[in-house]
Amino acid sequence: MNAKNLSLPALLAGSVIMSGAFAADIDAKAAEALMKRSNCNKCHAIEGKKDGPPYKETAAKLKGKPDAEKQLLVHLTTNPKIKVDGKEELHDNLKTKNEAEILNVVRWILAR
Ligand code: HEC
Repeated sequence: MNAKNLSLPALLAGSVIMSGAFAADIDAKAAEALMKRSNCNKCHAIEGKKDGPPYKETAAKLKGKPDAEKQLLVHLTTNPKIKVDGKEELHDNLKTKNEAEILNVVRWILAR
């Protein structure tokens, strides 16, 4: 998957426009299905640390931050370098190029 094909500015603009959205706008089933398909569960759980931090910890860390959505959109679309067991690797992107689906997952994580 090539993150360069994604229009990040459009993604972020959309997130600003929609940032007044209510939690009810999150499609939890779609978010969970996409994360499952993208193997996120291998390294993350809602609670409890695996190789990556639990979603609750990330949500708590970013709570109230105006750029929380932007930070996670970037994290999940640009393959940032991470360390797993002390070894450097590239963080996986979500297995979609659909911007609305990515934003839905970001909001799901932030609502944990
Ligand atoms: C090989 C293990 C692994 C996989 C697979 C993985 N992650 Fe991660 N993830 C990590 C690690 C390790 C970190 C911590 C990176 C750091 O703090 O530098 C992380 C960090 C995160 C964060 C926190 C980012 C932040 O800014 O604090 C989120 C959210 C996240 N991952 C979501 C996902 C999603 C969604 C997927 C599926 C596309 C996924 N991860 C797949 C290991 C993984």
